[in-house]
Amino acid sequence: MSKALVIGNWKMNLDYVEAVHLTQQIAALLASRPVERVDVAVAPPFVDLRSVTSVLEAERASIAVAAQHVSDRDNGAFTGEVSVAMLKRLGVSSVIVGHSERRTMYHMDDALVASTVRAVLRGGLDAVLCVGEDLVTREAEDHESFVSGQLTSALTGVEEFSEHVTVAYEPIWAIGTGMTATSTQIDAMMTTIRTQLASLGFVSSRVLYGGSVNADNAGEIVTEGGVDGFLVGGASLKTESFGAIVHACNDCYAERR
Ligand code: PGA
Repeated sequence: MSKALVIGNWKMNLDYVEAVHLTQQIAALLASRPVERVDVAVAPPFVDLRSVTSVLEAERASIAVAAQHVSDRDNGAFTGEVSVAMLKRLGVSSVIVGHSERRTMYHMDDALVASTVRAVLRGGLDAVLCVGEDLVTREAEDHESFVSGQLTSALTGVEEFSEHVTVAYEPIWAIGTGMTATSTQIDAMMTTIRTQLASLGFVSSRVLYGGSVNADNAGEIVTEGGVDGFLVGGASLKTESFGAIVHACNDCYAERR
């Protein structure tokens, strides 16, 4: 059986000292109460990555490290950018691509998401592709076709890397708002996404949910929302809440697949 996956997306929070501290705490918590059904990852800011991977190596913790973003270019005159090869060398194993905050605030369009997914996969890292509709699209009941379109645009032609792609469904209206999608809404979207993934040749990708996940709602979303785990923002910044989400996922992720 495949495992669930819980990723803590720290966004632009925690300097490297704070990042070391949180990493040590999470590693200690998972050492004292290990999980068998969940892979755990954290996604710190770029400047924290080396410190976090060093702590995890020293602690021999089985927590993976993801980056929050990456350039679609290999190297060269791209001031401020970071390449896939640079991340790989630091011990990063996956990259979040196309988070809605990058799409809306930094003009990351579908074409750039697609080329970044390609750069990540060809560079030997796993991609965590974020998709999700805004409130206007949801209210117009166009969310299923919108998200299917995002998947088609990002994943057409890279099915050979199927095992290295995770999809995170993150409705924009639920991110950081405290307004979680209902389990019924999530379950319906999981079906839509898995159907679309299958038609694109992706049969083994995990599909996560993200958007105001917390210690109180995580168990129900796993049980009734049909998800393979979570991409967690705000609640990943505290050991207690992140640990509780990981453990809820471990307890509730039964013999799904
Ligand atoms: P949130 O963020 O858990 O704070 O809503 C989720 C995300 O943006 O990945």
